[in-house]
Amino acid sequence: MGFLTVENLSAFYGKAQALHEVNISVEQGEIIAIVGANGAGKSTLLDSIMGLTKTTGVIKLGDNVLTGLGSPAIVRLGVGYATERFNLFPYMTVRDNLLVGAYTARDDIERNLDMVHKLFPRLEERENQETMTQSGGERQMVSLGRALMTSPKLLLVDEPTIGLAPKVCLEIAEVLRRLRDEFGTTIVITEQNANFAMTLAERLYVLEAGAIKIEGTVESLRDDPKLTEAYFGH
Ligand SMILES: Nc1ncnc2c1ncn2[C@@H]1O[C@H](COP(=O)(O)OP(=O)(O)OP(=O)(O)O)[C@@H](O)[C@H]1O
Ligand SMILES: [Mg+2]
Repeated sequence: MGFLTVENLSAFYGKAQALHEVNISVEQGEIIAIVGANGAGKSTLLDSIMGLTKTTGVIKLGDNVLTGLGSPAIVRLGVGYATERFNLFPYMTVRDNLLVGAYTARDDIERNLDMVHKLFPRLEERENQETMTQSGGERQMVSLGRALMTSPKLLLVDEPTIGLAPKVCLEIAEVLRRLRDEFGTTIVITEQNANFAMTLAERLYVLEAGAIKIEGTVESLRDDPKLTEAYFGH
């Protein structure tokens, strides 16, 4: 039994089916990656865990069934979500964008802000900067920081490296690993970049056209011809 279990999850946009009977199991404190190309269903999977899509199947976190709950309830049960679109308020400061993430955890703002600043010292240095004047890497940090303002037990991150330089990708990987090591946070990321996924995650699931096609530990998949063919271009 995993900490997060996704059982026979299908997701629908009207009549179109975006996920087909997806099964995933994540242990507490694990970092896993969902690897897939454009349109594979990565965002749909994370949106579905957050209760944002129409689904069949069952999603559980610990003893709680998430299926059928709304997003605010899912956030209160300990799930944080850094989306691929960020949805930051461009004219607000870094600090105020972080505080937006605290709406369900108002009593712990100072403690959670300290945790975010410890993980991302740059967000404290730049706390009064307008978000619109930040670099892409800094915005990704604000997006991650905002998702951490409820101190989630499970953090979902949609494409943490999209559009970022290799050096910034490594910085983000380092912070996510510290988050797990120091705070015990369970982490699910999605990625198109299988190389990055393998530097951070312990296990991978490969999603193609809404279905899991390959799964296993990074060790066991490193030289898997199906994976190398699909994601490293040889
Ligand atoms: N709101 C929506 N309405 C209708 N179809 C949608 C909607 N959102 C996604 N889809 C469809 O569902 C499928 C999966 O999309 P999804 O955004 O989950 O893929 P993705 O793996 O996140 O892709 P990307 O790497 O481009 O972000 C695609 O065929 C997409 O067109
Ligand atoms: Mg997506």
